[in-house]
Amino acid sequence: MTIRVYAPASMGNVSVGFDVLGGALAPIDGSLLGDCVSLAEVEQGIEVSTIGKFAHKLPSDPKQNILYDCAVAYQKELTQLGKPFKGVSLVLEKELPVGSGLGSSASSVVAALYGLNEFYDNALSKNQLLLLMGQLEGQISGSVHFDNVAPSYLGGLQLMVERDDVLCSTIPSFDDWYWVVAFSGAKVSTAEARALMPNQVELKTALKFGQNLAAFIDASHRGNSDLAASLLVDIIAEPVRAPLIPGFVESKNAMLELGAMASGISGSGPTLFAVTTDLAKAQQLQDYLQQNYIQNDDGFSHICKLDTLGARREALRGTV
Ligand code: HSE
Repeated sequence: MTIRVYAPASMGNVSVGFDVLGGALAPIDGSLLGDCVSLAEVEQGIEVSTIGKFAHKLPSDPKQNILYDCAVAYQKELTQLGKPFKGVSLVLEKELPVGSGLGSSASSVVAALYGLNEFYDNALSKNQLLLLMGQLEGQISGSVHFDNVAPSYLGGLQLMVERDDVLCSTIPSFDDWYWVVAFSGAKVSTAEARALMPNQVELKTALKFGQNLAAFIDASHRGNSDLAASLLVDIIAEPVRAPLIPGFVESKNAMLELGAMASGISGSGPTLFAVTTDLAKAQQLQDYLQQNYIQNDDGFSHICKLDTLGARREALRGTV
């Protein structure tokens, strides 16, 4: 059996929900924005290799690749369940830039673990798998936070609940919102961006954060698009991180002046996002970012909707 799995890019935080809200991205031109993993049976053990545009940014030793850790962790779970682990090879197609703020490590981890679960007859439940995804992604980003793995796995906009059986909840999203995203091409290490964060916030900041997030979730459930967009503000991470992302403040201001309903940092950056319901405006925002925010050949921009499907099987390479 050979299977190939895709896991979409994601925006952590979505401004208003630091570490607890995230959305999966689907470019409207139909292209894939995320990593794929192909799995095939081998005689024994775990084999890992990497191809794709950003493969050269990963460690050359396969055992240093997070996919290897994913397979070891999955094997441990199978052993605990008393199930056999047949040998497996995993080939990662690394298409998302590392340190981009687009959930690059989450995309690899989700594709690998989703693929392993398919490969081993869905031995783990959704919640078990999501917990494992969070743990493995946390090894790379410096601490466990689910705001990239949950949307990449389940699609849409995911709010982390983390209560007993309810790990996360799909928040109703606005079908007519376009999410314009631009990766500048600069690398921001999530672990380093997290190390910058203060350990404590003032009480008034904590209260405002809770109010903004609760009001955003409420507005989303009520279908109040303008109110929801006006609540996409980040009073926790953006004030600390924005000054360190070249060109971010100028480009965000430009997005709002050009009529975006909201704009912010995707994950820990440097990817910037902007929201609009008007496709012509989305194009204008993208043009601006393409000309002013992108710094080198690694950079790119896309007009996206939310990817409502999440991780899924794709056709094998070379078969379409
Ligand atoms: N919530 C995480 C952070 C997302 O902002 O550090 C990282 O992509």
